[in-house]
Amino acid sequence: MTTKNKKKDPLGGLHSIDEKMGSIRERIYEDLMQAPKFSSLHPDFLNRMAAWAAPRYKSYKEALQAAKRKIHQVFGMYLKDDRSIRQAGKLIDQLSSSSSEEEVHSVCRKILSMHSSSNERLGQIEHYFFSSIWSITGSPEHVLDLACGFNPFTLPWMGLTKNACYQAMDVDRSMIVLISAFLSKYSLNAGTVWVDIVENPPAMPTDVALFLKSFPCFEQQEKNSGFTILNSLKAKWVVLSFPILTLGGKNVGMQTSYAKVADELIMRLNVESESFQIGSELVYVIDMRKNIKL
Ligand SMILES: C[S@@+](CC[C@H](N)C(=O)[O-])C[C@H]1O[C@@H](n2cnc3c(N)ncnc32)[C@H](O)[C@@H]1O
Repeated sequence: MTTKNKKKDPLGGLHSIDEKMGSIRERIYEDLMQAPKFSSLHPDFLNRMAAWAAPRYKSYKEALQAAKRKIHQVFGMYLKDDRSIRQAGKLIDQLSSSSSEEEVHSVCRKILSMHSSSNERLGQIEHYFFSSIWSITGSPEHVLDLACGFNPFTLPWMGLTKNACYQAMDVDRSMIVLISAFLSKYSLNAGTVWVDIVENPPAMPTDVALFLKSFPCFEQQEKNSGFTILNSLKAKWVVLSFPILTLGGKNVGMQTSYAKVADELIMRLNVESESFQIGSELVYVIDMRKNIKL
């Protein structure tokens, strides 16, 4: 036992505060890992959530509840319901190498509609969304899709060239498994990574990093983590986007507040950017070429 921070334990014995926090954190972590709802989230992420909650609450029970609430806030609200992953899996099973373009499009549209972030983008993917971005960045040879959610199912409309490489990453293994199953049928030049991006931001160089609608979710997890991730990317271009309506479709002034967040970020990064609105998404295409650390 360390002697540092040793205090009279209100519950009895003499324990170091560090030791007690450590064991509460471990218990929360184990409980989160075993909860069916959270077991597909990356262990690094659950460990971070446990470490966040443990010192903030008096009792283990309160801390566990707080960790669960936070996970729900940053992650649990986007899928239509608990069955979405299973339903999406069944749709992917229907595809084969001989599926027509029409069949692939129909499956992808259905899956995109199951996640609120991509559902809101559905009306724009065919004509505007990616073409507006590539018209600024040029057609990329390498794309990283950070905190991708179901966005990889927009690949049929992304307009990437045949040799382009696309990599999608997310903290949720069930999504990553689903996306991998789709990619193995759809594209040879694509891959997935199951990762907590706060703990392990991607180190590989890329032409374009998509950081779509997830910046607020990172800031909720850990203040400043969105900026830290952006600043550490080895990307020539970053596409940062924000939702401008609530999940319920209400206009509560998010456009103004996120525009302020983006302007501050771009100023901190000391880079140039172009911005526009596509559907209900506020998009910033940020030129990081003068900052890139290869
Ligand atoms: C609001 S959704 C955005 C999904 C997608 N980028 C889009 O716009 O369609 C946020 C996504 O971030 C993922 N995510 C949250 N925290 C993460 C983390 N620490 N590391 C990796 N992915 C994370 C969630 O699993 C979820 O898929």
